[in-house]
Amino acid sequence: MRKSHQSPLHDFLVPALVTPSRRFLSTTSRNNANAASVADASAPQKPKRKPLTQEQRDFLSSALRVNQAGELAATLIYTAQTPPLVNAHPHLRPLLSHMYDQEAGHLRTFNALIAKHRVRPTALYPVWSAAATALGWGTAVLGREAAMACTEAVETEIGDHYNEQIRTLLEMFERWEAEGYEVGDDLRDLTNTLRRIRDEELEHLDHAVEHDAKQARPYWLLTGVIRAGCRGAIWASERV
Ligand SMILES: [Fe+2]
Ligand SMILES: [Fe+2]
Repeated sequence: MRKSHQSPLHDFLVPALVTPSRRFLSTTSRNNANAASVADASAPQKPKRKPLTQEQRDFLSSALRVNQAGELAATLIYTAQTPPLVNAHPHLRPLLSHMYDQEAGHLRTFNALIAKHRVRPTALYPVWSAAATALGWGTAVLGREAAMACTEAVETEIGDHYNEQIRTLLEMFERWEAEGYEVGDDLRDLTNTLRRIRDEELEHLDHAVEHDAKQARPYWLLTGVIRAGCRGAIWASERV
């Protein structure tokens, strides 16, 4: 669903001194702003936080956009898989509902983050919605093993994707700290959120393998096509 947070990209680049709720992408901390207003002009303080470069702001906005799109797709895959799968294998209902609940939680998290930081959602939303529903339904109709192979393939790509984002953030923090700057709570919280979600995605991957994902036929073709599709969708959602 496209919401009212579709402000143009330049809007969220406004420094936090003007819009404190967007401190995540700030040039300095709010404390610095307050301090600066009362500080002796002859003794300027070094900012505690390093200004984000354009490249870093672009990275953060595209990361939130692609994560939100991916989590929407995940909820739709499980929604479409559940009726045919549970019909044929009623014992899978608790597992599917557990995984769906976690995906719905991830989606709520990224919905809140893109609204807070005024990142526009991907323009390809309708395309991913249709593709995810077709993928979920199609693999569930092929059978339990194909549905689990789908989960295995998707979660492998998503786990790698979150790991790359976490790595980029940690490298950024390391450079800032080496230069004597502090890392804001928003960015620390984002990193911890990404770690938690990454761990839950990898738990889904384990469940899929435990439930015979590798017995799907043709396993390599199925997982190869789905993984390539995921990489294409991630690439496009980061940009569009
Ligand atoms: Fe997820
Ligand atoms: Fe997942």
